[in-house]
Amino acid sequence: MMPHFELLTAPIGERRPKVVRPGGTVKTYVFRNEGFMSVTAELDVDRVRSQDLDHVWHPMMQHQGMTKDDLMVIVSGDGCEVTDAEGKTYLDAYAGIWNINVGYGRQEIIDAVNEQMQQLAFYPQTQISVPAAQLAAKLAGLLPGDINHVFFVNSGSEANETAIKIARQYGRATHPGENRYKIICRYQGYHGFTMGAMSATGQTGRRSPYEPLAPGFVHVEPPDGAAHGPDEIEQVILREGPDTVTAILAEPIIGGGGVLVPPDEYFPRLREICDKYGLLLMLDEVITGFGRTGKLFASEHWGIVPDVMQIAKGLSSGYLPIGACAVTDRVFDAFKGEAGEHKEFSQVSTYGGHPACCAAALANLDILVGERLWENSEEVGDHLSNRLKEISSPLVKEVRGKGLMIAVELQNEDGTELDGPRTAAFGKALRSAGVITGKMSHVMAGSEPVFTLSPPLILTSEQADKIAAAFVTALREIS
Ligand SMILES: Cc1ncc(COP(=O)(O)O)c(C=O)c1O
Repeated sequence: MMPHFELLTAPIGERRPKVVRPGGTVKTYVFRNEGFMSVTAELDVDRVRSQDLDHVWHPMMQHQGMTKDDLMVIVSGDGCEVTDAEGKTYLDAYAGIWNINVGYGRQEIIDAVNEQMQQLAFYPQTQISVPAAQLAAKLAGLLPGDINHVFFVNSGSEANETAIKIARQYGRATHPGENRYKIICRYQGYHGFTMGAMSATGQTGRRSPYEPLAPGFVHVEPPDGAAHGPDEIEQVILREGPDTVTAILAEPIIGGGGVLVPPDEYFPRLREICDKYGLLLMLDEVITGFGRTGKLFASEHWGIVPDVMQIAKGLSSGYLPIGACAVTDRVFDAFKGEAGEHKEFSQVSTYGGHPACCAAALANLDILVGERLWENSEEVGDHLSNRLKEISSPLVKEVRGKGLMIAVELQNEDGTELDGPRTAAFGKALRSAGVITGKMSHVMAGSEPVFTLSPPLILTSEQADKIAAAFVTALREIS
């Protein structure tokens, strides 16, 4: 179909009319120096599918046997919903990939980014940028305790990479004569795809093809009910030698590894152990931060302040990529020294603290804090968990989580792990019922029948009911 050109008369700088893209059939270009011009054309979905199949290498997916109709072509999003190119709307109960905390289509964020791009598209962190300074100050006010110093990066992986490097340099700076570099982390934990963050990750399927990984990461069992608690971790520290260990790195609630909520005493005790041996407690709040679990940060559930906190995802709700590693005054001070002492943190990220990303994060935080979305996360999260727990089916092994971070684990009728074909059929049935969820994958062997839920924090009770109803339908289909 020939493009249909439509010239709009609105002058530059005026608020752009919201473009509705029903089923992805409308595409809009804006030519800045000639007023707004929209080009409306039928989207050739089939062509896009072919381009994708021929050229896009998708994450965590087996391409052999893949057809161009296997994946959805998502073309628009609004609130908790996304729409595909065929016009079908889905409730995105995964919020992109655990990150669209304020929901899709927030005009305030789009406008803030637009304004910043017009003002200054880029300048690095080697000098002061207004949105980066404002965002760091805002974060210092929101983060627990005296976590007051922020190093900006572009992703959760980089936030963890940064934390790992800070821990090594800190260990040697604060304990001269010792060689503190080891980091204790947990099996099933996930910290990112880059070499350091992946070495800290404890998920076999994501690690083994890339071994040998970076040395200096010691894995312990994740908390499992009362088993595998902090005492075990203390024993590992003693066996390794406390003078060789610099930090414990952990997700407050292990996310992609299956939503493992620790007992309430777990993190306060880890805090004590870190203090006892002079280790840093580094919490990866990449998923749990910014309201996901019913508090602004998950560490608030247990009243603890980590020494280092890694954040990303909900920091900008995914509107633009940004992550950060934030540290307490004490950690920051360990990097102070005279010129020539080389105590400074020797890392630069070209795009870390990108002005447009910081502007997106600032607007996102205004919404998140203004609407107190962690409260909705707690309330609607409880409602959703209860609805899911009420489902009476021998196939449901466990529903677990906190706030709007929930997992549903399935099993066969005889209590063994739900088999592969039924697990796949269940995922498809959820999709047909109009609900997108996450699914555990490449964490350990087997079918990993754990379906994860992390909808936008604006989810309503009615939408929670719709998610639970989709689970009921999908369970019926595989029963
Ligand atoms: C807990 C946790 N940390 C780190 C990461 C890595 O973040 P990114 O994919 O932005 O690099 C993720 C990603 O899912 C995560 O879940």
